Amino acid sequence: MISTVYAITLVGIGLVMAVFYFVIINSKKTEADYQSITKKWYDVRSKWFIFLLILGTIVTFASLNPFPIPDQHKEYSSNDYQIVAVNGHQWYWTMTPATVKSGQPVEFQVSAADVNHGFGIYDENLVLIAQTQAMPGYTNKLIHTFDKPGKFKILCLEYCGLAHHVMITELTVE
Ligand code: CUA
Repeated sequence: MISTVYAITLVGIGLVMAVFYFVIINSKKTEADYQSITKKWYDVRSKWFIFLLILGTIVTFASLNPFPIPDQHKEYSSNDYQIVAVNGHQWYWTMTPATVKSGQPVEFQVSAADVNHGFGIYDENLVLIAQTQAMPGYTNKLIHTFDKPGKFKILCLEYCGLAHHVMITELTVE
């Protein structure tokens, strides 16, 4: 039994040595032998990079069109837009006016009096339909067109202190 194990072990070692010997004998290639392979795969890598670049650009444009954030520097005319001034406070909203019409775009001018808040507009089922940050010292413009009348909830989307969860108000769309 022991001699059988010895025999198997010796044969195994012999096989491993044979493989090593084969590799050593056949590893006399010089760097020049690899140049064609290297060049080929560098070419593949360059083409793959360009492909990914083009694909990424197309996907980016397709998925960000229309761009979800309106032009922040544009003056939105009050002839075309209903303008609503929004201010976040610890812990309530002021919103003037609190009633808008459906079918015509609304420009929310969102700011904050103290700390950062999150202005989130939710429909009757509490599905978030539009949002922007309410930041002290900045006015963020949020454009949204309501397609039907209803009562919408404004909730704070940014933790802003003890009573963050009660920062709720209502927007009426006629
Ligand atoms: Cu305001 Cu949270």
